[in-house]
Parts: sequence; structure tokens; C-alpha cells
Amino acid sequence: MSVEKIKRIGVLTGGGDAPGLNAVIRALVKTAIRVYGWEVMGILDGYDGLLTPGKIKPLTLVDVRGILHRGGTILGTTNRTNPFSVPRKARGKILNVDESEVAIHTVRKHKIDCVAVVGGDGTLLLGNRLRKKGMAMVGIPKTIDNDIKATDFTFGFNSAVTTAMCAIDKIHSTAESHHRVMIVEVMGRNVGWIALYAGLAAGADAILIPEIPYDAREVAKKIREREADGRNFSMIVVGEGAMPKGGKRIYYKAEGSDKYGRLGGIGNYLAKQLSKYVENEIRVVTLGHLQRGGSPTNVDRMLGMRFGHEACRLIAERKFGYMVALRGDDIVDVNLEDVIGVQRAVPLDHPLIRLAEDIGTEFGR
Ligand code: F6P
Repeated sequence: MSVEKIKRIGVLTGGGDAPGLNAVIRALVKTAIRVYGWEVMGILDGYDGLLTPGKIKPLTLVDVRGILHRGGTILGTTNRTNPFSVPRKARGKILNVDESEVAIHTVRKHKIDCVAVVGGDGTLLLGNRLRKKGMAMVGIPKTIDNDIKATDFTFGFNSAVTTAMCAIDKIHSTAESHHRVMIVEVMGRNVGWIALYAGLAAGADAILIPEIPYDAREVAKKIREREADGRNFSMIVVGEGAMPKGGKRIYYKAEGSDKYGRLGGIGNYLAKQLSKYVENEIRVVTLGHLQRGGSPTNVDRMLGMRFGHEACRLIAERKFGYMVALRGDDIVDVNLEDVIGVQRAVPLDHPLIRLAEDIGTEFGR
């Protein structure tokens, strides 16, 4: 799509929601209208808004009033729609149809000169594919998992960690009263950022992350050592993507969800493993979607606003196919081609792992 002069932009939020999405939308809409004089169209429910009629509406300054502190996204989202493979019923069968042309056509029909795509790796990847077919776009990285390459942090991560930390603190006190081993399973998909940060911030005795396959005997040893030291309870934080040495990740089939299932269940699995080695009562708490909800922290509001604001600059400079990213204290531009399709795992030499081990936290190595 050759864009002469930008007059109207669109914005969509795709994938799992994350606290701070509304901060992005608000800053983007305000900057677009007040600084650049553009119109903004809100595309509802991620890419579904480009495939289903009636899901594009103007976003005005009034629409973004009072949303900064709100969790979720006023635009709605889905992590199921892929315009290149849409399940449609035909002759009694479900066939996956490439409707990317429909998406491109919708953008043209609404005279949208560029779409700001706010999403995680999958959403950004699809946006970049649509760009190659003619839809001008820029990216804004979002996910509680913090697994996007080339940005130090994504917005949503800090809020998720804060929520998990507060929950672990609460579980800590009941673990202590009942002299129990409490296992708290946190989100994070295939990477252990949430487990590492929340576990460390909440003083967990063991933190199990996908990057370090664990040996349950080492975790049990830690529990026994604590007992020998008069500490007859233990707190274990496990990332949903963690796995035992030589074992596999654990998935469950979420009702009404896609065929691939969702990560979850490692907490209970670990409890069974530990019960072979220790006699303590063990309870498992899975924090789940609690970590995605609620009001964003100040860190995520700031980062979201900065991303929304700078995304307008990217559009004005016609840097289509780029996303905004955080490097140190600066917002930089990154080519999506260099980012997508690679998950940013916790490096094994990360200073926080060293810190944790130096103060006695067990990783089950
Ligand atoms: O990517 C965000 C995330 O919350 C992951 O941490 C988790 O594995 C997944 O999404 C859950 O997806 P859903 O909302 O579809 O259950």
C-alpha cells in the first residue's frame, strides 16, 4: 500500500490481554489526533475486526477518557483469529481458508493508511505477513510473558509479576501457619520471566523455570534442609512451562479452545513427585488468568504510554514493518523481521539467577 499522506490510522489489540493495553490505546489516540491531526479507527477483537463486518469504529478523544487505569482492552481481543487460516464450514466440513485478502480489503475500504498492531509474537508475525501483502503496519510489543526479542520489557509483565508476588506473599503466611509445602504455578508460557521475578521478589525457596529442567529430588532436599533448620514450611514457585529433567511440558485441553491446548498442570505434577521424597502436606495454587487482569502498575502505564506515543512517530516516519522497543531507558525502533518467531528465554547466566542461587534459592538443577 503506497501511502501518500497519512490521514487515518487503525489500531488493533491481539492475543492474550495484558495490563497496560488501554494506556497504549489512550496515548496513541491522543497523540494521533492532537499532534498529527489523524483520525483513528478502532479495530475490534484483534484480526477478527478485519474479517467480520461492523467491527471497525472511530476512536475519539472522548472514547479514551478514563481508561488509563483500567485492565483489559477497550477494543477487545482474541488469540484465535489468524486471517491466513480461518476455520469456515463448507459442505459439512470445517476448512481452513486464507482470508488475508479480506483483511487487506477491509483496511482499504475504511481508508486506513496504517494499522498499529498491539500484540505478542503471534499477533506481530501475522501483522508483518499482512504488511507483505499490502497493509501498512507498525508493531507495539505486548505480553505478560516478557518473551519478545529485542525489547528489554513488554508492558503487562510488571503488573503480572506484581499480582503474582502479592498472591505468593498471601500464600506464604498460610504455608507458615500450616507447616505446609505450597506450590504456586504461574504463567509465562515457554519462558520463566514471571516465575523468576515473582519468585525472587516474594522470597520463594525454590523457583522452577522452563529454561532449567528440574530434578524433584533437589527440590525435596531443599525442603528437608529447611526443616533441619527449623523452617517447617516451604514456598515453591513454578512456571507453567517448566519440566522435569528428561520430561516434557504439561498441557491441558481448555474447553472451547483450539486443538493445541494450554500449558498448565506442572504444579500438581510436581506435588506428586515431591510426595515420594517428603512427608509434608503439599498444596498447589495455580494463579492463572488472575495475572492478566486488573489495573496496570505505574511501570506498565508509563511503558504503554511511551509505546503508544512513539508508535505514532514510527507511522509519521513511515517506518512500516517496525516495532517500538525498550532498550535501557530509551524507546528504539526494531525491524519486525529481526524479532518475530524467536522467543526470548531467560539466559542461564542472568544476574537474577546468580543472585537467587547466591542467597540460597533452589532451581532444582
Ligand atoms: O501469553 C499470555 C498467556 O497468559 C500465557 O502466559 C498463557 O500460557 C496463555 O496466555 C493462556 O492463554 P489463554 O488465555 O488462551 O488461556
